[in-house]
Amino acid sequence: MAGRVPQDKIEQIRAASDIVDIIGGYLPLKRAGGNFVALCPFHKEKTPSFNVNPQRQIYHCFGCHAGGDVFKFLQEYEHLEFIEVVKRLAERANIVLEFDQSPKADRARRQKDLLLKVHEQLAARWHGVLLNEAQGEPGRRYLAERGITEEAVKAFRLGFAPGAWEDTVNWAKAQGHDPRLMEESGLVASRDGRQYGRFRGRLMFPIADAQGKVIGFSGRVLEADVKAAKYVNSPETMLFHKSQIFYGLDKARREILKQQCAVVCEGQLDTIACHMAGITHVVAPQGTALTVDHARLLKRHAREVVLCFDSDTAGQNAAVRSYEALLEFDLVVRVMFVPEGHDPDSFIREHGADAFRKLMDGALGFIDFYLSLLVAQNDVRTDAGRQAVVQAMGATVRRSKDAVLLDHCAQQVALAVGATAESVRAEFQRMPQPRSNVPREDVAPVVPSSAPEPVSPPSKQEEWLLRLVFYDRHFVDWASDCLDLRWVEHGQVRGILERAAATGATADELMPELDEGSRRLLSAVVADGSTIPDPGRQLMDVVVRLRDRHVDQRLAELTRLTAQPHLPETELMNVLEEQHELRAEKQSELPAVPALA
Ligand code: CTP
Ligand code: MN
Repeated sequence: MAGRVPQDKIEQIRAASDIVDIIGGYLPLKRAGGNFVALCPFHKEKTPSFNVNPQRQIYHCFGCHAGGDVFKFLQEYEHLEFIEVVKRLAERANIVLEFDQSPKADRARRQKDLLLKVHEQLAARWHGVLLNEAQGEPGRRYLAERGITEEAVKAFRLGFAPGAWEDTVNWAKAQGHDPRLMEESGLVASRDGRQYGRFRGRLMFPIADAQGKVIGFSGRVLEADVKAAKYVNSPETMLFHKSQIFYGLDKARREILKQQCAVVCEGQLDTIACHMAGITHVVAPQGTALTVDHARLLKRHAREVVLCFDSDTAGQNAAVRSYEALLEFDLVVRVMFVPEGHDPDSFIREHGADAFRKLMDGALGFIDFYLSLLVAQNDVRTDAGRQAVVQAMGATVRRSKDAVLLDHCAQQVALAVGATAESVRAEFQRMPQPRSNVPREDVAPVVPSSAPEPVSPPSKQEEWLLRLVFYDRHFVDWASDCLDLRWVEHGQVRGILERAAATGATADELMPELDEGSRRLLSAVVADGSTIPDPGRQLMDVVVRLRDRHVDQRLAELTRLTAQPHLPETELMNVLEEQHELRAEKQSELPAVPALA
């Protein structure tokens, strides 16, 4: 993305984003005098101490002292970067951001608006056909047979696409939509110069984005025996990216956020069945295993994911592949299976919602599930079998940077194959670290404190930190007061800064004291003698980023701790307390960096 968003734009967006509206979209706010209150989403409590002040447009929790403006709330609540919040609120308020004002971006935006309009209108039309028109009768009959209530039909805006080849084409003409636009929407295709509708004679599921805007469709055949594909989906378009979309997320979001847990099942009808049964933190990918994009999306809403796939081999494989994506984002994963021959939809219909809830509560931790699967597939009385189990498990969990998880896993595997935990751990270590599928900036690197000094170069951020600290002697003083060395990961960078803090020395004065490697690092960094614009602000920025990274890592560790079953109450209280302190630390302001003469 190009450039920063100017402050007046931010203010315009703020003015258009009433804090009560926004927070009210996430929490049930109750009026209390001039304010609104709710149970605080940032700490556990039984009486509401979370306040929203409409006059001042701020929120504050008197319990955990979380607080800030509307931007801050979304950042904290949805785990978004500031710029993402700005974009989201701007979009909501229909405010165009400066850096998007090129003619090209403008055209793209107009095209997108048109596509959204077509999808919205077509969803409405197909919904109308299903509810009211004579040609919707087969759809109505089918839904009645499957026990889908009218309430669910309306909530999910199910529809019926008439069978005629030209139906959608004619409809688009009557609406005045450009035929090229229709083809770009994927709702219409063409052959030998003649256009025809992609969806014909099918039960239609509109697919919405997280905000509830329709961006694509999935259509199911009504008769089981026809040769046509059971489901036809929208192709990839400007709006629709299958690997990034969950069916039902717009309806499930609130409950997922509330429970910090998302149930992922396979299909649309499973999702609807769960919602009808009052289990609403349920979504489905569009018939694929989860991708890292899916995982990223879930991470914004929850810390735990329950995978609910079919109990056949395909379902089990999908669970393993999905787990690998989820692990990249440190999500806690459990796996539940409905009994063979059922999917959630048929299970709920036959056994009821409570039975389904029982299955959900009994979901196994992923490692326990996978281990029992591997042990069933391999004969652990043989060397080959034992090796296969260790290798398969290692290949999957090595993606995790979580030492506690790896350790637990090694212990479980050791028990299962009759080896010592040490030997399994050693086997895991010997395996090559799988390449991450996630772009680097998305995962915070974690260097365990007991690891040997890294010989790899420091991150660009820490290099930049060094450069800035030694830019001016006053900065060295400021850093020795304000920079906590635990925030710095690279051993050499930390060592250099430690010496500087102890002596107040400049880079040149420090050089002779340093070991070879550190000296080379420092001289390379300070060799660039060019002028840095606004160096004080830049120093502040990088220090705050390092602090927040450190705090986030610790928070993630604590989150994993709290997800453990059987965590003693006292332990839990300690964790909660530390979480409050860390959040407060992130919100605190560091003393100003001295201005340079
Ligand atoms: N799916 C798909 N294309 C197919 C088959 C399936 O996109 N040809 C996706 C759909 O999103 C579907 C999910 O995979 O919802 C699960 O497929 P399946 O279990 O076959 O369908 P159900 O949703 O269970 O439908 P039904 O209960 O009507 O059989
Ligand atoms: Mn089904």
